[in-house]
Amino acid sequence: MKKKKIITIAIDSPAAAGAGTQAKLISKHYNLFYLDTGKIYRLIAHYKIKYPKKFNYLFIKRKMKMIKMSDLQNKQLLSNNVGILASIIAKNKKIRKIVHSFQIKCAYNPPKKYNGSCLDGRDITYKIIPDADFKFFITANVKNRAKRRYLELLKLNKKIPYNEVLKSIKKRDKNDYNRKISPLKKTKDSTLINTTNLSKKACFLKIKKIIDKKLIINGNI
Ligand code: C5P
Repeated sequence: MKKKKIITIAIDSPAAAGAGTQAKLISKHYNLFYLDTGKIYRLIAHYKIKYPKKFNYLFIKRKMKMIKMSDLQNKQLLSNNVGILASIIAKNKKIRKIVHSFQIKCAYNPPKKYNGSCLDGRDITYKIIPDADFKFFITANVKNRAKRRYLELLKLNKKIPYNEVLKSIKKRDKNDYNRKISPLKKTKDSTLINTTNLSKKACFLKIKKIIDKKLIINGNI
């Protein structure tokens, strides 16, 4: 029997640009398996803090083999410190290699009940799903992103001064854009979505319009 063609959506973005929110809305709308790849680097950062003595490549490999989606829901992964440590860990070539195989599996072999997959991160459009059906680069002004992250952290009862959040977003941008391995970049074939002056809904509708247009042309809907 011919294997059903799945839809793949790749999204890259700097921190707190709203990519996760959009990826979740898109995944729900098109019934796609969603993977927030940043959460994996955050999980590894969390392990480094929790198990400093056991932390090595073999330990990470073992943990990745046993990974469950529920591990990625841990609220501790959302802290500012874990985010900064994740962006330092993410520079490591060997760790990225371990993490990539899991991400590629999720992208090309999502559970059967889904119509495909949607992944967001920093290197999804050119490293994890280079042949994705849809590619987006979602960004926003840095002050705007810091304000969003500040409010998100407040909601989690983590009261960190706005200026500190802004500083850490800038630090992560510097790490992510300038690292040698898998730096954050907008590929030529990605559609730029700037969310600075867009509501969540307006942004979703903009992305949906692009996806629907191609799906209709290709006879998918
Ligand atoms: O997306 P999030 O902010 O949770 O990601 C945490 C960190 O993980 C990022 O700052 C980035 O350094 C790293 N990351 C990455 N590649 C990805 C996703 C995240 O290097 N695909």
